[in-house]
Amino acid sequence: MKVAVYPGSFDPVTNGHLDIITRTSRIVDRVIVAILYNSEKQPLFSIEERIAMLKTVTANLPNVEVASFSGLLVDFMKEVHANVIVKGLRSVTDFEYEFQMALLNKSLNSQVETMFMMTNRNYSYVSSSVVKEVAKFGGNLHGLLPASIIDTVEKKFKKQ
Ligand code: PNS
Repeated sequence: MKVAVYPGSFDPVTNGHLDIITRTSRIVDRVIVAILYNSEKQPLFSIEERIAMLKTVTANLPNVEVASFSGLLVDFMKEVHANVIVKGLRSVTDFEYEFQMALLNKSLNSQVETMFMMTNRNYSYVSSSVVKEVAKFGGNLHGLLPASIIDTVEKKFKKQ
């Protein structure tokens, strides 16, 4: 059984993330989307809100689960019996950071492999940060976010 973990902040999940999740779900048996709970970061959405959004957008993918973790990714991988980390790559800048993370994770647990998936070219410029910037100023989120969560994200900014 091939179990892959797709870790990240997902604050919020974007079309770029969803594309990686969907493509990964076609090549492994189970995909666990793992949201990092980081007490030092100030996310816009709570863990519960991010889990709910991820569950909504992956509802049509039966082999995709959503979980959260704190601490080291390699420890979470052990807990869920997974040995493949999936990461999306958009640019050379992503590569430099991800290369370091992949080598670090390998040194922490040599059984863990990191696999990189090239971004869909339609989403190479999409990130949670740019989406939040657009949402903050009332810009059009279609094409950036899955349609089913646009309302949730817009409402969050209206509240603020
Ligand atoms: O979406 P992000 O914020 O770029 O995701 C970063 C994430 C969660 C993948 C990374 O910070 C991570 O794996 N953190 C867990 C702590 C850990 O294991 N650190 C060492 C290797 S990355």
